[in-house]
This record gives sequence, structure tokens and C-alpha cells, in this order.
Amino acid sequence: MHSIDFYREEFLTYLNSEIETKEPKNLYAPITYILGLGGKRLRPVLTLMSTDIFNGSYKDAFNAALAVEVFHNFSLVHDDIMDAAPLRRGKITVHEKWDINTGILSGDAMLIKAYQLFENYPPQVFRSLAELFSETALKVCEGQQYDIDFESREDVTIPEYLKMIEYKTAVLIAAALKMGAVVANASDEEKDAIYSFGLNLGLAFQLQDDYLDAFGNPDTFGKQVGGDIIENKKTFLYLKALEMGSEKQRKELIDLYSIEPKNPIEKINTIKEIFIKSGSAEITKKEILRYSKNAFQVLESLSISQQKKELLRFFGESLMVREV
Ligand code: IPE
Ligand code: IPE
Ligand code: MG
Ligand code: MG
Ligand code: MG
Repeated sequence: MHSIDFYREEFLTYLNSEIETKEPKNLYAPITYILGLGGKRLRPVLTLMSTDIFNGSYKDAFNAALAVEVFHNFSLVHDDIMDAAPLRRGKITVHEKWDINTGILSGDAMLIKAYQLFENYPPQVFRSLAELFSETALKVCEGQQYDIDFESREDVTIPEYLKMIEYKTAVLIAAALKMGAVVANASDEEKDAIYSFGLNLGLAFQLQDDYLDAFGNPDTFGKQVGGDIIENKKTFLYLKALEMGSEKQRKELIDLYSIEPKNPIEKINTIKEIFIKSGSAEITKKEILRYSKNAFQVLESLSISQQKKELLRFFGESLMVREV
């Protein structure tokens, strides 16, 4: 096994050798742009690590890892259109730098590119990867649709929210790990266990993303802080504040979530205050920890070396203390 930094560096070298701006420029330049903006690269790192964990060779997982990262970046380009987001990784979003049509088509091309990368595998591996990927990608679409539907619904429940984040975010993290296991030809039990680890980690990860969207440091977060509040996203923070807040706080929250002011600063600040005073912010942090612990518990069921478990655990823990 290698360090997380090692896997990230190896992946980046591969990414840079594979991605180029061809003609027509307006199709490919946004793709090179978004893929070159950085990001944590956590999904491809997980794919490479997973292959090594199940005694394969991480180099065999490069194409699967790249497929996952290209798909992830595709989903971000379209997500930023849907969320009307101005910033991504500290830079202007694709649809703002170019326009919405460019974001749509470059995104489509990335989705196709992601599938194409599986063609580098022998037929049986190709089939397993493509099946897993299709199932995952459809769930991501379903999750994204729920996320949008919830913006205008007032009766969203916490179980519904959890299903939504499982679909839009956790399944891809789980699939990234499972793909590594597929490449390494791991057993079905191993594939299921690593998937389940990823699913729990992914739930913690999206809860943390929601938390940072409200309470992150604008200088380091890389996205517009308060973006979810502006868009009236029914996050865990919001739903818990409704549940735990006083009658007055509930009413204020519902009122503020029904308006879209030109200058949202006051709305954002008032809502953040309610998130804190209602106890919702604290509970959200506890939930993040709970899902991470669930993930670590799943690890125990895997018969892999202690050193490998520790690496996965370290990876999970580093996600929980992140600022971006
Ligand atoms: C952002 O994912 C989208 C979510 C699922 C929350 P990341 O936080 O992994 O984004 P990058 O790739 O590191 O920028
Ligand atoms: C992202 O959810 C999920 C997908 C991109 C599929 P968010 O909308 O919370 O992601 P960010 O916060 O914009 O990165
Ligand atoms: Mg978004
Ligand atoms: Mg979104
Ligand atoms: Mg978010």
C-alpha cells in the first residue's frame, strides 16, 4: 500500500496525460477547465486504493478511477447550473464563464467520455464496471431530482432527505470503492462490504458538505457560502432546526425559506443563527460522526490487514476535519 498523497499524484499524472483540449474548443475547453481546477480527487483515490487493498495493482484501476472523476466533474457542471452557483473550487463556474448551453453539452460529453474509459477493460470487467456505473449514475440523477423537488416542498422528512443524499452523493463514493474491488477481482462479500463502507462515508460526507455550505470559511471553502440557504435547500441543518426550534424560530425559518431576496446576506445570517440556537448545527456534527463511525464499523467485517483498515480509517477521518 502507498500513502493517500501517492495515489493522488499518480492519478493526476494519468489524468493530465489523458485529457486534452481538442476541436471544437468550446466543447473541450470547459472540460479541461473543470478537470484542471483541482478538487480533492477523493473518488479516484478511493478507486486506486481499493484495487490495492484487494491485492490488485492500482495501475490497472487508472481508467476506472478516471471514469469516476470525469463523471463526478460532469455532475458538478450540471449541478452548478441547477443550483445557480457562481463559484466552484474557488473559481468561476463553467456556465458563468461560458454559458448554460456550453455547460450542458460539455457535461454531456464528459458523461460519454466516462463510459468510454471502461472500454479499456476485458469484456467481463467491462460489463461489471458498466453495470455498476449505469446503476449509480441513474441514482445520482434521481437524487438530484429529489434535491430540486425538495426546494419547493414544505413537508420534506429527514428519511426523505437521507435517501436524497444517499442517491446524489453517497452511491458514487461507494461505487468508486467497489470499482476498485471489481478491477482487483475481489469476492462478492468484499465488494459488498467496501460498498457499504463507502455508502456510510458518503452520507457523512454530504452532511459535512451541507454543514460547510452554511458554516465554512469563505476564504477556503471554494464555493459560495450560504448557497444552499439562497436556494432554499432542505438540508439536514434546516430540517433539524424545524424539528428542534421554538415556535418563533420555526415560523421565521419557514418565512425566510419562502422568499428570494436580492441581497441575501441578512437571510443567510438569520438562518445560520437559527441553525445554531435551535441546536441543529450541533446535532448535524454529531450525525456526521455517527455515519463515519458506522463506516469504520463496516471495515471491521473485512478480512484485510490492520494496516489497510487504518489507511481507510485515516482517509475517512481526514474528510471529517476538512475545510473544503
Ligand atoms: C462536491 O464534491 C459535490 C458533493 C458531492 C458534495 P467534492 O467535495 O468531492 O468536490 P471536489 O471534487 O473536491 O471539488
Ligand atoms: C452535489 O450536491 C451532488 C452532485 C453534484 C451530484 P451539492 O449541490 O450539495 O454539491 P455542491 O455543494 O454544489 O458541491
Ligand atoms: Mg450544488
Ligand atoms: Mg446540488
Ligand atoms: Mg453542497
